[in-house]
Amino acid sequence: MKLLYEGKAKRLYETEQPDELLMEFKDDATAFNGEKHALFENKGRMNQALSLLLMQLLEKEGVATHFVRTIDDIHMIVKNVEIIKVEVVVRNVAAGSLCKRTWFEEGAPLKTPIVEYFLKDDDLGDPMISDDHIREMELATPEEVAQLKAGALRINEILKPFFLKTGLNLVDFKLEFGRLASDPSTIILADEITPDTCRLWDTTTGEKMDKDRFRRDLGNVMESYAEVLKRAEDAVHS
Ligand code: TMP
Ligand code: ASP
Repeated sequence: MKLLYEGKAKRLYETEQPDELLMEFKDDATAFNGEKHALFENKGRMNQALSLLLMQLLEKEGVATHFVRTIDDIHMIVKNVEIIKVEVVVRNVAAGSLCKRTWFEEGAPLKTPIVEYFLKDDDLGDPMISDDHIREMELATPEEVAQLKAGALRINEILKPFFLKTGLNLVDFKLEFGRLASDPSTIILADEITPDTCRLWDTTTGEKMDKDRFRRDLGNVMESYAEVLKRAEDAVHS
């Protein structure tokens, strides 16, 4: 099958159907724009399982996602989209780059979620941009940006209480959206939702249960991913 795109944690292949692609979850983990790299056995499998569970939860709540069906533990069929080159970050608690750029202290709760946009360009290190940059670069129209923001906040309203049920605080997360190849006027969520792309802190111990364990050399990376997946599965089945 023809490889269309290889990212740091995923590969996308063409299928016989022009409106569908095959997505593969890799075991690779990278941080600091690829400067740091490691392989974690089972990461791909666990990320697909959690992402799948969360996409199904979102679909049930009326959020359109790219998920079509699973093939095996690390492969799923997704809708073919033209990715909008804007990474949408939603924050409920101050952490990560927000604390480096501003006066917020790590762990400070935010009164209202903060939405930020980053240009999806590895060569530039994914710089933060505003809605004006998005309009001028014609990455998306103002109407589309409004859809991205409303969509990201709606997803936060679904995921935050879901993770709370599992004893995890959804500190922040990153989303990507795309225009359907078959109907570019329709924008859908076209990304994974995993501990690679979210910050999740245990509500009682405050322990970090996400990729910050890898970024900051905290150890037990896969143990934490497995624990997040187990808690999410338990919450769905309860
Ligand atoms: P940040 O605090 O480094 O800006 O990250 C915000 C959120 O976005 C955090 O949950 C991790 C996620 N993220 C990605 O998914 N990919 C990235 O390349 C970066 C920098 C962050
Ligand atoms: N995913 C990015 C990288 O591979 C950054 C990160 O998640 O920290 O470098």
